Amino acid sequence: MPPDAVLLSFGPKYRAPSGDRPNCLGMGTGWSTTERQETTLHSQQDDPLGSLSSTTLTWHGEADTEAFARALAAAPAVRDAFIALQGDLGAGKTTFVRHLLRALGITGRIKSPTYAVVEPHEAPDGLPIFHFDFYRFSDPREWEDAGFRDLFAGPGLKLAEWPDNAAGHLPPADLTLRIEAMTDDTRTVQLTAGTPRGHTLLATAAA
Ligand SMILES: Nc1ncnc2c1ncn2[C@@H]1O[C@H](COP(=O)(O)OP(=O)(O)OP(=O)(O)O)[C@@H](O)[C@H]1O
Ligand SMILES: [Mg+2]
Repeated sequence: MPPDAVLLSFGPKYRAPSGDRPNCLGMGTGWSTTERQETTLHSQQDDPLGSLSSTTLTWHGEADTEAFARALAAAPAVRDAFIALQGDLGAGKTTFVRHLLRALGITGRIKSPTYAVVEPHEAPDGLPIFHFDFYRFSDPREWEDAGFRDLFAGPGLKLAEWPDNAAGHLPPADLTLRIEAMTDDTRTVQLTAGTPRGHTLLATAAA
């Protein structure tokens, strides 16, 4: 199916679970059926350079999430990319990162950076990977003190959940994924390229 006309046909729509955030206020647990709907999404292709700048994908299950992560991992442009991951609690940001890290050859337990803000990894070929979660980031001094500026200026793949909490510090993302839970397994994912590197990633991974 061409990327400019993605037919979404999904059944019961669910509300995302509260996740495991101890400071998440007043959200219910588990998934709840709220409505049924059917729609057609068209991607935005308003790139003045003439290449794709934004497109919308549907992941019908984690196998699709994994397949996209594999495609991204195979793109050489991913190596020094900054990928921002937006979406509600439980949308699937960490799940996508885990699939991407596996696709890049990371083995063993992959810890969530929730409490440490950043978890560093190193792929078997030496590629440094930094997985940030800015959910609890609020102190601007931490940006300098923890050396995040240097990490973002250095080589390697940077992945950031909750990037809006560090807006003003972060460089422009090469690629932004906005993940939205539609059912317990289905995710709508808006991909937006913010740099030439991001355009390359979109063109190769979301083709
Ligand atoms: N297609 C899918 N893609 C990603 N996750 C999926 C998909 N289908 C189901 N899930 C499930 O949704 C949950 C997503 O949780 P995850 O921790 O990845 O969310 P998150 O966006 O990182 O949340 P948080 O903001 O709390 O960090 C997981 O339990 C995962 O197994
Ligand atoms: Mg997460």
